[in-house]
Amino acid sequence: MIKPLRKAVFPVAGLGTRFLPATKAMAKEMLPVVDKPLIQYAVDEARAAGIEQFCMVTGRGKTAIVEHFDIAYELEATLRARSKNTELAALRELQMPPGSISTVRQQEPLGLGHAIWCARAFIGDDPFAILLPDDLVMSDTPCTKQLADVYHETGGCVVAVCEVPREQTNRYGILQIGSDDGRLVEVTGMVEKPKPEDAPSNLSIIGRYVLTSGVIDHLARMERGAGNEVQLTDAMAKMIGQVPFHGLRYEGRRFDCGDKIGFLEAQVAFALKRPEMSAKVAEFLKQYV
Ligand code: UTP
Repeated sequence: MIKPLRKAVFPVAGLGTRFLPATKAMAKEMLPVVDKPLIQYAVDEARAAGIEQFCMVTGRGKTAIVEHFDIAYELEATLRARSKNTELAALRELQMPPGSISTVRQQEPLGLGHAIWCARAFIGDDPFAILLPDDLVMSDTPCTKQLADVYHETGGCVVAVCEVPREQTNRYGILQIGSDDGRLVEVTGMVEKPKPEDAPSNLSIIGRYVLTSGVIDHLARMERGAGNEVQLTDAMAKMIGQVPFHGLRYEGRRFDCGDKIGFLEAQVAFALKRPEMSAKVAEFLKQYV
């Protein structure tokens, strides 16, 4: 029987070194794209996929991420007194069911795999999604929903993948693949940040996953991989053959918001999608290019 997918883990304990000095005292995941912080895009995406329980793996200086989902009574009272109903409605949309958000602490950023292992008590025996909030995906069907739909058919593990230029394979987790119907691929192996000449394909994993709880046992060995970090990719590789493992060429466009250029591109792309501002943004962009 395929267990329903109801849990998601949001690793947000990274240092965000590529975005210094912005991330010196502020979490990268609180950087806004237009008017919403990255973490909110990720939580909204998970909710749209039927996720009911949310776990944030946080570290030092990340408290604002959790507070963002609290009720701001004073602010709401002030908005109400000033009849700022649109703004009030925007805050209301943020409200999460009581008890649905948990946090665990990763005291040292020892890698993405280690961050996921820190959420082991939350995960228990259940399947779970992982969303890296700095990967922002613009799509008609939310990316995690696309993965969840595949998971509910195939069971096992499903990761979102896209083609990257060969010379960039050393930045990503790269798949080795078996059968491929153009949308869904069978995963036969994977390696973190391979050199272009060693990469088994140019199909890269983006920051969206649905995994079964068995991955925790592999993470628990704390084997260090690329960059001397505990890599999620290495633990996932050990699941191949134990459970069905698929890569989904998701529909949509991904922006790497942990990177300055990717972040700026996301601002423009998301602003151009907003009816109330797209014309003005298109107009001023013309002045710069
Ligand atoms: P990144 O590779 O983007 O690392 O992590 P980073 O530290 O956040 O950013 P840079 O590279 O220094 O600029 C991918 C995701 O994994 C989380 C990050 O918060 C991000 O969501 N992560 C990474 C952890 O939670 N803990 C870790 O030890 C490492």
